[in-house]
Amino acid sequence: MKKRLLIVDDDMESALELRQGLASSQWLEIGGQATCIEEAWNLLQSLRPDMVLLGGIKETERGILCQQFRLAYPHLSFIAACSPQELTWEPFFRNLGIWVVTKPVQPGQLEALALMSAGVSGAEAAKVSPPAHAAAVFPGSSQLAQPQTISASPVQPVLPISSQPPTKHLITVYGPKGGVGKTFISRELAIFFAMQKREGRSLRVLAVDFNLDLGTFATALNLPRTPNLFTWVQEIDAQLQTAALHQGRDPRLVRSEEWQEFVSAMPLSPHDISKYVVRHTETGLDVLTSPRDIRHSFEIKDYHLYLILETLKQSQYDVILIDTAPDTTDATIQALFFAEQVVMVGNPVVDSIENIQRLLKLLREADYPEERIQMCMNRLQRKEMFTLEEIRAYFQLHPSKKIFSIPDDVEVKKSINSGIPVMLHPGRSAAKEAIETLGKALLPVDAEKPATVPGAKPKERPTLLRWLWG
Ligand SMILES: Nc1ncnc2c1ncn2[C@@H]1O[C@H](COP(=O)(O)OP(=O)(O)O)[C@@H](O)[C@H]1O
Ligand SMILES: [Mg+2]
Repeated sequence: MKKRLLIVDDDMESALELRQGLASSQWLEIGGQATCIEEAWNLLQSLRPDMVLLGGIKETERGILCQQFRLAYPHLSFIAACSPQELTWEPFFRNLGIWVVTKPVQPGQLEALALMSAGVSGAEAAKVSPPAHAAAVFPGSSQLAQPQTISASPVQPVLPISSQPPTKHLITVYGPKGGVGKTFISRELAIFFAMQKREGRSLRVLAVDFNLDLGTFATALNLPRTPNLFTWVQEIDAQLQTAALHQGRDPRLVRSEEWQEFVSAMPLSPHDISKYVVRHTETGLDVLTSPRDIRHSFEIKDYHLYLILETLKQSQYDVILIDTAPDTTDATIQALFFAEQVVMVGNPVVDSIENIQRLLKLLREADYPEERIQMCMNRLQRKEMFTLEEIRAYFQLHPSKKIFSIPDDVEVKKSINSGIPVMLHPGRSAAKEAIETLGKALLPVDAEKPATVPGAKPKERPTLLRWLWG
C-alpha cells in the first residue's frame, strides 16, 4: 500500500516539483501540503498521513515543531529537509529519531524512506533503483536519488532497554571559558569510571580529546599523542576517496557537502577504534587524543567528526567521555548534541558565569533538553562572592536541579603537572570526594552489588519523549 506524505513547507514551488516527481510513484503519494502551523495540525488530523516532510515555515523553530508533532503523533515518520547550512543540526534531528534529507529533496529519496519505514530493511531498500519516471522528470539531475547515497539515515529507534545491551553513556564536559577545569574534570571522571565495575567486570571507558588544535588530555595522563584523532581522519579520507573513485568521481573535485553524502553511506566500523586509541595502563582507560600537530586539526571537518561520533556510539565502550574546547565550533556543538549528558563547568567568577548564561540561552533557544545538563562549579573557595543559590537564580535553573561543586585544592595543580590523577592518590581529599559525587550522579554504578537482581525486571530506559519532557 502506498504511504501518504504530508508536506509542511511554505515553499510552494519545491512542493509542486515533488508532487510532479511522485505523481506515478508506487510507494508514496502526497496527501497534502500545509504552509502554516494551523494548517499542519488540521491536516495531521484529517489526512492521517504516514510520513511528514518538514521543510521550513517562516517564523517557526523547526526543532520545537518537530517535538510537538512527535509528541502528538509518535507513530508517524518525520523527515526534516535541511539546506546544506542547516546540516549542523543533523545529529540533533537524528537523536530525536527524525530522518534527515538534504535540499533540494529528490522524489527517490522520499520513496526510499517510505520503503524503509514500511519495514523493508535499509539494505533491501538501497537495492531499489530509483523509479524510471523520476529520471524523466529531472532529466538534468545526474546525482538523482541513488538511494544508497541519500543522506537520510535510519532512525535510531527508542526502544525499551530490556532487550538491548546496557546503555552506553556519552558524556560531554563543556564550559564556555578556558582554564575553568574541563580537562581536569574530564580526566578525573574518566579515571573514576574506569575504576568502576558492572556485573563483576570493569567498565570500558574511552576519553576523547575534542580540543582539536590545542588539546592536552594526553599530557594530563603522561600518555603519548600517537595514534590520535588525525590518524583516524586520514583513514576515513582514504576510504572516502576510494568511494568517490568507485562512483567515477575525481576526489579533488568533490565538495564538502558531497563528502557529507558519502560519509552517510559509509559503513561504521566500531571494531577499528582500538587502532586509534592509546591506553592508560594503570587503569585500562582508553584515550583518543587530539592531533600532535596544530595543522592537522585544520583538516578535521565536521563530517569526519560526525562519522567518528556515530562510530563511537556503536562501540563496545560503556562510557565515552568527551573533553571539549571553550568554543562554539562544529566539533563542540556536535559533542553537545551527541551527548546523553553534559557537564557544564564554570568557576564562581563573573565572566565564567556570564558565558554559561549566554550559552544556556542559546541552547534553550535551540530547544536543547536541559535535563541533560549537569552544572558544576569548580574551584570553590571557602568564602565566595556568589553563593550557589545566587548562581542558580541567575541561570534560571529548575529548582530540582543540583549544582555540583568541586573545591579549590592545591593538590590539583600538582596532579596535573605530575600526570597522576587525584583519583589515584591514596587517601581521601575533598576534591576527590566531590568528583566521586559528580561521577555517581552521572552514571549510577554499584560496585558491590550485581547490576541486576535475578528475576527482577530490567529497568526500562525512558523513551526519548519521556526523557525530553520529564
Ligand atoms: N579544583 C581545582 N583546584 C585547584 N586548581 C584547579 C582546580 N581545577 C582546575 N585547576 C587548575 O586550573 C588549571 C586549568 O584547568 P584545565 O582543566 O586545564 O581547564 P580547561 O580545560 O577548562 O581549560 C589546571 O592546570 C589546574 O591547575
Ligand atoms: Mg582543557
